[in-house]
Amino acid sequence: IIPRAEFWKTVKNKKVERPFVLVNAADEEFPICIYKNNDSYTASLLKCTHRGCELNVGGGIYSCPCHGSEFSTEGKVLEGPADQDLKTYKIETDNENIYIYLF
Ligand code: FES
Repeated sequence: IIPRAEFWKTVKNKKVERPFVLVNAADEEFPICIYKNNDSYTASLLKCTHRGCELNVGGGIYSCPCHGSEFSTEGKVLEGPADQDLKTYKIETDNENIYIYLF
């Protein structure tokens, strides 16, 4: 469970919304990125589907430092050598929280 407030930070007395939040799940060896696009959220495991390197988040995509694969923030392959989308998780939201279903 991630409080929606996690997406907000205060910079110089101004509230600024973050595009994503990283979380660690006990059963996963890689972080999960919760990315906000407009009013919807996507949760993707930051494990490259090519050979399993941890992905970087930046510039509105996930990129792999090992061989250059790129994925959209919805977890879809944009650029190989990876040919499979990222593992994503079901999400539900209410006014206060984001619920990520890990099973
Ligand atoms: Fe990510 Fe090869 S492990 S592109």
